[in-house]
Amino acid sequence: MLTVEGLTRTFVTGDGQVQAVHDVSFEVKTGEFFSLLGPSGCGKTTTLRCIAGLETPDSGEIWIDDKPVFSSKKGIMVPVHEREIGMVFQSYAVWPHMTVAQNVSYPLVHGRRKLPRNETKKRVKEILHLVQLDDLEARPSSLLSGGQQQRVAVARALVAEPQLLLMDEPLSNLDAKLRVEMRHELRDLFERLKLTALYVTHDQEEALVLSHRMAVMHGGRVVQLGPPMDIYKEPANLFVAGFVGTTNLIEGRVVGADGAGERGLVETAVGKLRCALPQQVVQGQRVSLMFRPEAVSIHTAACGSPVNVLPGHVRAVVFTGNRIEYDIDVGQYHVRADTNPYVAPLEKGQSVWLEMPADRIRVLAA
Ligand SMILES: Nc1ncnc2c1ncn2[C@@H]1O[C@H](COP(=O)(O)OP(=O)(O)OP(=O)(O)O)[C@@H](O)[C@H]1O
Ligand SMILES: [Mg+2]
Repeated sequence: MLTVEGLTRTFVTGDGQVQAVHDVSFEVKTGEFFSLLGPSGCGKTTTLRCIAGLETPDSGEIWIDDKPVFSSKKGIMVPVHEREIGMVFQSYAVWPHMTVAQNVSYPLVHGRRKLPRNETKKRVKEILHLVQLDDLEARPSSLLSGGQQQRVAVARALVAEPQLLLMDEPLSNLDAKLRVEMRHELRDLFERLKLTALYVTHDQEEALVLSHRMAVMHGGRVVQLGPPMDIYKEPANLFVAGFVGTTNLIEGRVVGADGAGERGLVETAVGKLRCALPQQVVQGQRVSLMFRPEAVSIHTAACGSPVNVLPGHVRAVVFTGNRIEYDIDVGQYHVRADTNPYVAPLEKGQSVWLEMPADRIRVLAA
């Protein structure tokens, strides 16, 4: 549906050049919800604007539904209004002087796909039902809550049935609770309509919840691409490990790598740990061992056969409602370990033994 190949965009500013997007390639399949995730300034919006046609890339190619809309080599640059794209931006850009219905029908009245009046009315009703704004058609948009305005923006983007919907942080102006609700609403809506979406966010949880696949960006480049669970469990490098989810890191040196490069032993300042070594890691190499707080089992007594068990002391206990987060001193490291709130809570200062199964440890080049 959407193919981006070798996309590069450099800005010239007062103090030099900013390489906003550097050699970015990815593909979004029909019906897929695909996210670009990354910290502020990593090039997400610039990528989206290039695809929309609001920005001219320096080089690369963009195809929408097998039609080239940009190619630096072939000198193709299809203008914005000729790309069949719906867009929702961070500032909803809902027109305050119009009613909800006027806002939503705008693309059908003024856009490329003009429809007869009664047809427009019917379509607007349907789409407002979809975003659960049934009774608000006649309400001036200035009298809506943030969440309602956001849904108006989504409805307006959907009404002309674009092949592809581009969304740039559409939920970022909402309060925390509404954000989470809207996340699930969006997910349901896209699933039902089988829409193709390219979604931009710096919120890792949002990307994990919504996406079929995602690309993590850093410094204008795509650093990892894949389904959310793969990226969460097997981050490609320390940046992704730190940006997506909460991460524990312990540094060490490979002291045992068997022939197959599979089961290995890493020596750290707090003990030796068994783990699966990636192919390219060799004996003697310095590595970081990465594991998630929920991958750790906490024991309150020393285990019989202590493989991958490290002793520690509870430093802090934080109850967050859906879990208990422990900060545990293991030598010089603070290890985060989580349990569900129905497990008997531990006390501050208590001795514990942390067990990290080998298959839950990821070895990353230091
Ligand atoms: N028009 C411009 N002129 C100069 N530099 C720009 C321009 N637009 C973006 N940049 C720079 O390009 C880089 C990428 O910006 P971009 O807006 O794509 O980031 P982003 O990932 O969307 O960030 P955020 O999460 O903060 O929205 C930044 O360093 C930014 O300062
Ligand atoms: Mg942005």
